[in-house]
Amino acid sequence: MEKDFSLVADEILAQCKELYWHVPNNIKKEQIHVRSWNVPKSTAQFLYLMAFATKAKQILELGTSAGYSTIWLAKAAQENGGTVDTIEYFAPKCEVAQKHFKQAGVDEVITLHQDTILEVLKVWEKDIDFIFMDADRGNYDQYFFYLYPALKKGGIIVVDNAGNYRDRMVRFLKAAQEAPHQYSTFLDLDNGLFLFIK
Ligand SMILES: C[S@@+](CC[C@H](N)C(=O)[O-])C[C@H]1O[C@@H](n2cnc3c(N)ncnc32)[C@H](O)[C@@H]1O
Repeated sequence: MEKDFSLVADEILAQCKELYWHVPNNIKKEQIHVRSWNVPKSTAQFLYLMAFATKAKQILELGTSAGYSTIWLAKAAQENGGTVDTIEYFAPKCEVAQKHFKQAGVDEVITLHQDTILEVLKVWEKDIDFIFMDADRGNYDQYFFYLYPALKKGGIIVVDNAGNYRDRMVRFLKAAQEAPHQYSTFLDLDNGLFLFIK
């Protein structure tokens, strides 16, 4: 019998907590630690519920890391008959994420772009139902420039860290609030989520 998805997700979350990547730092001639920085389980469940309930088929994630949030989005996409594109430039994280996608049984609906977000967005062509932003916050305004036209009317953007790192995304928040849309709000869940419905 297939293992319950939420149990697999819990296992993956536990693995993420243990993960550190030792990356040689040529300047300081020492090792630095790179964490997975995954969202808490409650945020992941919220993403799943939003994507599933809105029947999102084309989902895009900025910032994969070890793939924890991606597997929840992919579970919703799988149930909706859709797919997830996710972007991560750090190769060791991509490798671990691919392992987690297989472990969760969602690898077939995920395309992992090992590249910078900007390079992927510059040539982006698909319409999008649901976007999750969880990467380099200071550049979200640049990404929004490409994402807004691709987002379908009624499509949703969820942005993590809109509470604890709000100051880093002020240009984006201003651009989003000024763009034509149906609804936007701040949700005080975990690190704070900004929600936007086009
Ligand atoms: C907060 S972590 C993502 C966590 C993941 N969403 C989760 O909850 O499991 C952010 C990731 O974005 C990646 N990242 C940051 N800036 C990026 C960029 N410009 N292009 C591609 N990846 C980027 C980082 O390497 C990091 O792994």
